[in-house]
Formats: sequence, structure tokens, C-alpha cells
Amino acid sequence: MSAGDERWRVAPGGTLRGEARVPGDKSISHRAVMLGALAHGETRVTGLLEGDDVLATVGVFRALGVAIDGPREGAATVHGAGWPGLQPPAEVLDVGNSGTSMRLLAGLLAGLPFATVLTGDASLTRRPMRRVTDPLTAMGARITTAEGGTAPLHIHGGAPLAGIDYRLPVASAQVKSALLLAGLRAEGRTCVTEPAPTRDHTERMLRGFGYPVSLGPGTVCLEGGRPLLGTRVDVPADISSAAFLLVAASIAPGSDLILRHVGWNPTRTGIVDLLQRMGADIQVLAADEAGGEPVADLRVRAAPLHGITVPEELVPLAIDEFPALFIAAACAEGETVITGAAELRVKESDRIAAMAEGLQALGASVEPREDGARIAGRPSLGGGRVHSHGDHRVAMAFAVAALRAEAPVEVEDCASAATSFPGFVALLRALGLAIEAG
Ligand code: S3P
Repeated sequence: MSAGDERWRVAPGGTLRGEARVPGDKSISHRAVMLGALAHGETRVTGLLEGDDVLATVGVFRALGVAIDGPREGAATVHGAGWPGLQPPAEVLDVGNSGTSMRLLAGLLAGLPFATVLTGDASLTRRPMRRVTDPLTAMGARITTAEGGTAPLHIHGGAPLAGIDYRLPVASAQVKSALLLAGLRAEGRTCVTEPAPTRDHTERMLRGFGYPVSLGPGTVCLEGGRPLLGTRVDVPADISSAAFLLVAASIAPGSDLILRHVGWNPTRTGIVDLLQRMGADIQVLAADEAGGEPVADLRVRAAPLHGITVPEELVPLAIDEFPALFIAAACAEGETVITGAAELRVKESDRIAAMAEGLQALGASVEPREDGARIAGRPSLGGGRVHSHGDHRVAMAFAVAALRAEAPVEVEDCASAATSFPGFVALLRALGLAIEAG
């Protein structure tokens, strides 16, 4: 996937002003391609994220024989032919850096009559996969992992699946979604109960494709064996990408930004809730619905932030936004305490370690903990060189940190930003960040 040799140099200070629509939601984009491929008939997607992760999912379905036109400027048409339209791939399915592709596809591929192999890059092949392979095995799937429960995953196929009633040990939308996708092919009923609410895009989109899903408090159930029907999917802008701009405009004095058509699903808005608790000035200008998902235009203006204790129940609702939140906390008055966020250690990098190390390099006082961190805010950060550890969100977080730095910030290994936010450098430069890629 992305080469790890891009470096950003960001001059200190600056003000962000203007209007932007950030690229499409990564989670929704993956699901649109997957369900479109399983559906009967055409699915037309607009606003699709053309990031490396979603392109990896597109590549997998092409390898499985599904015709997909595009994506071009966010538009793609998936020509689904139902489950029988999926054919044995000639090669190993390499999903690069994309955990969502690997985990959701493990569930989807488990019920096929043929064998597949899923692999990924150095980061992804270190991440835990037993959280999906264990319950899939309990459903009857035959999957072999590498030692340690990591990819490559050899999915032997050909095994009939039975529904499961599963209580998730960790709050994970990826695991929930993997089991629901396997449940589509399983005999009987599949129910997944989560310990805390996680993103519900799979449930919403299944209904959009005409598949009955029943929802109870903390539980989602479906019966296997029904068809999915091709539809239209309008993918909103990714609130996880917008998060960098929300933090950037909040910490850079004089900033005033409008962000258009942002996904406003209540299982994703934890970052706005947290920033508002810190004193951020974020207004919802217009709220609407697009294709079963809430969307909103947001206005964010600079405001003095103060530290908070992050309520643990908000952690899964902001799980991808912690790199950005670490920067907000480092620029806030007082202390921010994060607990109950051990999942951050098994993302694209160990995000607790990567953020603590980078912030310390910029002179901030951060005490990493097993399941979070204690961050003491300060009026400004120093300059310096930080390493992204090949993690897109760590790279983008440190780019915006320069807005409150006293000297240039250099961020190493930034090509990964293209996995979720292609065009990040150009967009941020247009809005006022003095960022150069080289
Ligand atoms: C995702 C779920 C989250 C998130 C990831 C995308 C999804 O992971 O971190 O970036 O699309 O379902 P977990 O569900 O493993 O927490």
C-alpha cells in the first residue's frame, strides 16, 4: 500500500478560515461496496472515499469477480449478482492497512463455498484477529490465523454456518459487522450484543438494501438467507476526518470554518461532544438525512479549551478521534484524563504510545497509561520532529498541532494519510495551514 517515505513540514502558527467538504466516510464507504457486491442489481454510490483502504475493498471484490465502475470523483457503480456472483479469486486478497476490510471480509468470506486468504501490510498483520475468528469459528467457519491470532487469515470455506447469539467482549463495530455479514449466509438467527454502543452503519445500511434487521437495547439480530437489493448510497463526509479540522480551528486563534455534509450519526459524534465539554465553539448549522444516515453542516470557531476527564462511555463513540483529541488536550488549560481506551493500543499503531511520544517531543507533558493517558495542557507547544509510525491519524494530528507550536513541526512517514483522507495536505493548505509535503 502507501509508501512510508512522505514527510510533512509545517510552519508554526496560522489561522484556518473557509469552507470545506472533507472526503467520504470510510466506514460507510467500505460497507457500500461490500453490500453492493452482495446485492442483486446495481448499487450507485456517491461521495465514496477514494482512499487506499476503500480501494483495497474495491480490489477484493474485483478479484472475486464483481464488476465495479469507478470510483471516479466519488461515484461508483457496483454490479452485484448476489452471493453466487462471487467467484474464487486467483490470488491472495491483500487489504493493505485496512482493518475494517480485513475484519468485515473475514465474516463475509467465511460462508463462501471456496477458500480465500486475507493478508495486509506490516501494521495490519500485527493486529488482533481472534476477536473475529473465534466467534466465526463458533458459527462453523474454518479459519486458520498465523501464530498469535494475526493475519494472514486462511478462510477454508465450504463449511455451513449456523447463527449465533454472541455477546461482544470488546465494544467493536468491526466484530459486530463481521458476525452480521456471516449471519447473512448462516442458517437461522444471528444476534450480537455489545457492551457499549458502537457505530451502527452496518445495521442501517442492511435496511437500506432491504434486509430486515431487528434492534433491541444493545442487541442487533437478523435471520440468514434473505436477499439484498441494489440501491443508492450517498456517503456523507467523514466525521473522523472532519475531527482534525474541528481541533485545528478550535486551537488556532481567529479560526472560523464551515464543514459541509458531515456524517452526524449519533454513534460517531463523540468527538464533538468531547470538544464541546472542553469549551469548543461548534455549532450545527443544518441537520438533514441522506440515505439512512444523519448529516449536518458544522461551524467551528477558535475558543479557549480546558481539560476534562473523558467519560468512558464516550470512548467507543470517538474511538478514531483520540489522536486529534490528544492535540486538543495538549493545547487546553489544565489536565485531560483518558481511561477505558485500551483499544487505542491495537489500532493502525499503538496510538497511546505514538501520541505520547510525539507530544513529548514537542515539549508537552503526557503520561501514557495502559488504557489511556494524562495530558497536561500548555499555552503553546515546541517545534520538533515526530514520527507517525505509519499511522494516518497520528500524522494528521501532529500536522494540526503546529498551529500552536513555536517552531516548525516535521512529521515523518505520512503517506498513510491517503488511507482515509486523500488530499489532506492540499485542503489544509487551502484553509490556512502552512504545510509542505516532501
Ligand atoms: C470501524 C470500527 C472501529 C474503528 C475503525 C472503523 C468500522 O474499529 O476504529 O476505524 O468501520 O467498523 P473497532 O470496531 O474495532 O473499534
